[in-house]
Amino acid sequence: MNILIVYCHPSKNSYTNHILEQLKKRLYKKRWPVEISDLYGTRFKSDMTDKEFDREAFSKNELPVPADVRREHKKLSRADCVIFLYPLWWSGCPAKLKGWFDRVFTVGFAYKQTNESPGMKKMKYGLALCTAGYTDQFLKEVGIAQSMKTIMLDDRLGERFENRELIILGGTLDLEKVKHDHLLQIRELVNKMEQFCG
Ligand SMILES: Cc1cc2nc3c(=O)[nH]c(=O)nc-3n(C[C@H](O)[C@H](O)[C@H](O)COP(=O)(O)O)c2cc1C
Repeated sequence: MNILIVYCHPSKNSYTNHILEQLKKRLYKKRWPVEISDLYGTRFKSDMTDKEFDREAFSKNELPVPADVRREHKKLSRADCVIFLYPLWWSGCPAKLKGWFDRVFTVGFAYKQTNESPGMKKMKYGLALCTAGYTDQFLKEVGIAQSMKTIMLDDRLGERFENRELIILGGTLDLEKVKHDHLLQIRELVNKMEQFCG
């Protein structure tokens, strides 16, 4: 089982980075191959050029796809399971990750596939793993958890993934209180992945 982690946080000292390390440790223990797209680390370009816009907006599949986007396509083609790991910023994902979807989920690859461009294979499992300052409970109460689900799972991941899930590692404003529970959730998650992709 091949795993791709699309990781988006600018700081190595962040809690999200700590979660990445924990997750990697667990996955390596299972000896599953893990590939990481570190969007800040690799300075992934999140803004679209006018040429890319023309290709997307007018479904011109014949126009070329930029090399950095093609590299992401190849990573997706090798993966069975994709984890998007990011912090909750202004109730959504960081702009860099949003830009990854804008640029990488191209026409002919992620949608409007044709015989000539069969596009992205169906993934077994897609997970949005999101750290958040507010608690999961609060984000549920005010409807933000539902909006995150609707946008990330129903729209962006959508039917491209057989199984989809959002896990909010919330309450980081009071980190000591939630840290242990987050680690348990990571442990549980790895077992769940085995069930979906094993
Ligand atoms: C620009 C910015 C916007 C944020 N917006 C939210 C938010 O809308 N909701 C929330 O619960 N936490 C929010 N936070 C808190 C982060 O989600 C929290 O810092 C992160 O999940 C965990 O810490 P880390 O940045 O050290 O990884 C925000 C933080 C930043 C820097």
